[in-house]
Amino acid sequence: MRFDELKTPVYVIDEQKLSKNCSILKNIQDKSGAKILLAQKAFSAYSTYPLIAKYLTGTTASGLFEAKLAFEEFHEKGKTGDKEVHVFEPAFHDDEMEEVCGIADHLVFNSINQLEHHRKIWERSWKEGKLSVGLRVNPEFSTQEGHEIYDPCAPGSRLGIRLCDMPDKLPKGVEGLHFHTLCEQGFEPLRDTFYEFERKFGKYLPQKANSGASDKGATGTSALKWINMGGGHHITRDDYDREGLIELVKYIRETYDIEVYLEPGEAIALDAGYLITTVMDIVKTEKYPVLILDTSAACHMPDVLEMPYRPPLRDGYEAGEKKYTYRLSSRTCLAGDVIGDYSFDSELNIGDRLVFEDMAIYSMVKNNTFNGMPLPDIALMHNEESCEVVKTFGYEDFKMRL
Ligand SMILES: Cc1ncc(COP(=O)(O)O)c(C=O)c1O
Repeated sequence: MRFDELKTPVYVIDEQKLSKNCSILKNIQDKSGAKILLAQKAFSAYSTYPLIAKYLTGTTASGLFEAKLAFEEFHEKGKTGDKEVHVFEPAFHDDEMEEVCGIADHLVFNSINQLEHHRKIWERSWKEGKLSVGLRVNPEFSTQEGHEIYDPCAPGSRLGIRLCDMPDKLPKGVEGLHFHTLCEQGFEPLRDTFYEFERKFGKYLPQKANSGASDKGATGTSALKWINMGGGHHITRDDYDREGLIELVKYIRETYDIEVYLEPGEAIALDAGYLITTVMDIVKTEKYPVLILDTSAACHMPDVLEMPYRPPLRDGYEAGEKKYTYRLSSRTCLAGDVIGDYSFDSELNIGDRLVFEDMAIYSMVKNNTFNGMPLPDIALMHNEESCEVVKTFGYEDFKMRL
């Protein structure tokens, strides 16, 4: 099926762009020695996992279900069990822990309480050499302004252990430290955060005998094997300082005896997806005419309201920039279900199709059926001429959750 023949609404994943992003990330892995994981919270369209698995080390999960999905689906065709599964969640239920430990290669706890509460179970897998356990720390170093909802270092954060709450010696069995503090950021905030992390938590890092950094790190006694610098790195954006990242990872690996993990979500599928929608009606108002679309910000692109942000629209411009300006909205009852005001070179009509760009990330994973809105299909675009619908949804998908 061709791109312009797909029934709307539909999310379309652009395989060529996905491969391009993944090869950029693989290049970083190869040049720096970092291990890069797909953060499934951003993108879990698992029909693409065999493709992504050709490039990346593994996945990270926000809990048992994402971990299971990765365990089942994230591998190259014909190869199973060769990719790492990492899991972090602020708290695990007792009845999840056995299963998590049976799947995970790395398990990260958010507190000493959680680590000790589940010790009996994870320690078995750890002793068998099947599981490596880490702690999430909070470097208390904010690098973003105005987005407190996406800042795990904001005052009062529940995410990660502050230095003042860390024991002098790492608890038995802890082999890794994890921090995640960034959101859609360039290299410089990561560099600054790492140096702050090193200043505060460096005493836990095993120093390499020949590193010459005698004032840093633990000498010979630390059991730490890895650090994970979380996600939020926009590595595949054109202006990202990728050489800077490679040098930083090399510095860490040359100074300390540890592996370095990164777990971006957005960077993997950045600009690698579209949401195609159809104009169902045009309503006159005292302001701009409103397009009633068969998609919805609230249901199909919740980040537009939550972040909030204005999604890029193919052939769409700022309001007033071109001759015809419209407010793009939806067929839900929510008055605020507005995607934004866009202008166009020519007048739009009922039945026209519009293409929102950069719709692979935090879209399919967050959508919902509020108002009984149908969920968009999911299609893979091999190229413009060849698209394949991999998922369709209907009434049962709405009913089964209620
Ligand atoms: C612990 C953790 N790791 C990785 C990510 C992925 O971040 P991003 O998709 O912004 O790269 C997130 C996002 O919230 C996260 O909380």
